[in-house]
Amino acid sequence: MTADRIIAGAPSNEDEPFETSLRPRHLDEYIGQDKVKDNLRIGIEAAKQRGDPLDHVLLYGPPGLGKTTLANIIASEMGVSVRTTSGPAIERPGDLAAILTNLQQDDVLFIDEVHRLARAVEEILYPAMEDWALDLVLGKGPGARSMRLALPRFTLIGATTRYAMMSPPLRDRFGSVFRLDFYNVEAVAKIVARSARILEVELDEEGTQEIAQRSRGTPRVANRLLKRVRDYAQVMADGRITVEVAHEALSRLEIDELGLDDVDHRVLTTIIDKFNGGPVGLDTIAAAISEEADTIMDVYEPYLLQLGFLQRTPRGRVVTKAAYEHLGVKPHARAPADQATLFE
Ligand SMILES: Nc1ncnc2c1ncn2[C@@H]1O[C@H](COP(=O)(O)OP(=O)(O)OP(=O)(O)O)[C@@H](O)[C@H]1O
Ligand SMILES: [Mg+2]
Repeated sequence: MTADRIIAGAPSNEDEPFETSLRPRHLDEYIGQDKVKDNLRIGIEAAKQRGDPLDHVLLYGPPGLGKTTLANIIASEMGVSVRTTSGPAIERPGDLAAILTNLQQDDVLFIDEVHRLARAVEEILYPAMEDWALDLVLGKGPGARSMRLALPRFTLIGATTRYAMMSPPLRDRFGSVFRLDFYNVEAVAKIVARSARILEVELDEEGTQEIAQRSRGTPRVANRLLKRVRDYAQVMADGRITVEVAHEALSRLEIDELGLDDVDHRVLTTIIDKFNGGPVGLDTIAAAISEEADTIMDVYEPYLLQLGFLQRTPRGRVVTKAAYEHLGVKPHARAPADQATLFE
């Protein structure tokens, strides 16, 4: 399915060179997320004035909203280097110890998917974050001694799509925690226009809007759609992206006016047709449409929740009236009693 990879938030290999060229380098180029930016500006300025590293920062939110981008921007605004790794890449405590001892004074250590750090690795991180110290245990058994090594001061930036899966002691050690939200259409339109300028694509105002509206508030999706529409414009039209060209290209990718693709549609219609609108558990939905539960939870569900098409209840997911309206289907007459309240 072509649309899958466009919506699916995770970066693909194909994105890499493209994402790098489109990635904003400074806070001023980073569009939207104004509250986060304002807070960061103040924190960065204050840390620089004092000559301290910035307090540890945790960034969380759905894929493709700009966490990695922001981590790199923070480092460049602080004028320091960034060392990038990820939770699953650090297998043993010793791996992390090696990374920490090799940092330069005031560097940024960026750990992506920070919720996936092993517990034993996390424990190395606690004293490192609090006291710039590495606690080593020498020897084994009753004769074991512990030794404390000083580390260079550094800023840890953690990123995660799963805030709830992070262990509380780790969460508590971040000085600031920022949640990235889906972007509004206006902000996405600015991102599309900026990317088009960089890629030297001719794109008019209405074409920009058309792409922005279908990008589900996600910069990565916006950039991918722009790229697909550019291909279409080049082959099927004169290269210019007008509203007609954008509309036609996006319809071919089976992305609807709200940016929902085939998987979103299958999630919603399956809950409606097979489970009478819900409530139904995520794993059951995933099995019914042969998708991974994690993908649905990380990539598809946040946007459906944001649109108000899906609700999370203690007993499972429920499709809302707004979703029935969008899909143009009528709720089933035999809706369970506790669900009827949703449609008042
Ligand atoms: N605020 C922004 N302004 C302009 N472009 C942005 C912005 N945020 C993200 N982008 C673009 O979107 C792309 C994806 O962003 P990024 O890789 O930072 O997302 P992410 O949150 O780290 O995703 P993941 O959770 O999958 O790691 C970037 O390459 C960048 O071009
Ligand atoms: Mg990232």
